[in-house]
Amino acid sequence: MKTILVTGGAGFIGSNFIIYLLEKYKDLNVINLDKLTYAGNMENLKNAENNQQYAFVQADICNKEDVSALFVRYSIDTVINFAAESHVDRSISDPEIFVRTNILGTINLLNIAKNAWQIEEDQFQDGVKFLQVSTDEVYGSLGETGFFTEKTPINPHSPYSSSKASADLLVSAYYDTYKLPVNITRCSNNYGPYQFPEKLIPLMINNVLAHKELPVYGDGKQVRDWLYVEDHCKAIDLVAQKGVPGAVYNIGGHNEHTNIAIVELIIGYIKNRVDAEVGEHLIKHVTDRKGHDKRYGIDPKKIKDELGWYPETAFDVGIQKTIDWYLENKEWLQHVTSGAYQSYYSEMYGKK
Ligand code: NAD
Ligand code: TYD
Repeated sequence: MKTILVTGGAGFIGSNFIIYLLEKYKDLNVINLDKLTYAGNMENLKNAENNQQYAFVQADICNKEDVSALFVRYSIDTVINFAAESHVDRSISDPEIFVRTNILGTINLLNIAKNAWQIEEDQFQDGVKFLQVSTDEVYGSLGETGFFTEKTPINPHSPYSSSKASADLLVSAYYDTYKLPVNITRCSNNYGPYQFPEKLIPLMINNVLAHKELPVYGDGKQVRDWLYVEDHCKAIDLVAQKGVPGAVYNIGGHNEHTNIAIVELIIGYIKNRVDAEVGEHLIKHVTDRKGHDKRYGIDPKKIKDELGWYPETAFDVGIQKTIDWYLENKEWLQHVTSGAYQSYYSEMYGKK
């Protein structure tokens, strides 16, 4: 990897990934292409701004001219596509933008990378790679036992996961049809700094701090498999460099918790250290999400055995680091929750 195009690098995982890359590699050029939707935030990249190895371009992954221009301007050898509409609840109320960005945006990137890198039929420049950052949600929902492996059939339920699954199929098709060197990574739920407070963990932290109701969908017994964002970044870096062309890699650390347990943990931590007045009285069970997947759980055996990846951050350490980060970055939280967030929140949850 010499010049890497990161799309969606102003979002939660993308910005953590860029900071990780710039700290680790001193000879890598990183170009960040991001549309700056509600989820993209330049504040996430303050630590990269003045780095000579880093450039930012505000553009839409669906735009042919803007993306092509980057391939003319820079000798890009790696594309890592984080750019997406990423929130299940938003996909339920407004699915079309998910089709546009997640599917049409991905095929636009694939076409432009293919044209830039192809030498002749079935042959591409050495060392090029297109990595699609995907999700375990494409596999659908698990019962009480078992895990998702790379061989689990795709069976998405939400408009979000369906759009990600569609993109994955296109990425695989570009390998099968044209031999474009691709990888797909499917990771479990991430948590950590810079996550937008529409997702469970930062939403609950923000609400506990503000003494607002904590909206738990249904009985709260749904299970998610949580991974600290830096461990995801390390896995993506490994796959980008060593992943077998055409292969899918699942990423997860066997760290399953019910939603209600996560909410109780956040309340307990803040109550003990910051604010004795908060408590479980803030929990409010609200109407369940439509088509709510019951359980996700990743089997990470393949990436462990083949690439030597393992999760380094234990959950009790990661969750404390995460809550502390939000406590230390109240200004960031204030900025992202002012304006449009308020209308999103009241439409989604009512005024409380
Ligand atoms: P995010 O919503 O925080 O960030 C998405 C970023 O993409 C934002 O910066 C946004 O401005 C940008 N973007 C959106 N539409 C765009 C477009 N048309 N053109 C260019 N940029 C655009 O998302 P995230 O949580 O950081 O997730 C990043 C990727 O990882 C997504 O592809 C998501 O499906 C995948 N993923 C996320 C998780 C998770 O737990 N968050 C888990 C597994 C996989
Ligand atoms: P979320 O963070 O949206 O991730 P995903 O749906 O992609 O797994 O939600 C995680 C879990 O938390 C999911 O089961 C839905 C639940 N949830 C709530 O109970 N209340 C909330 O306000 C939110 C945002 C999520």
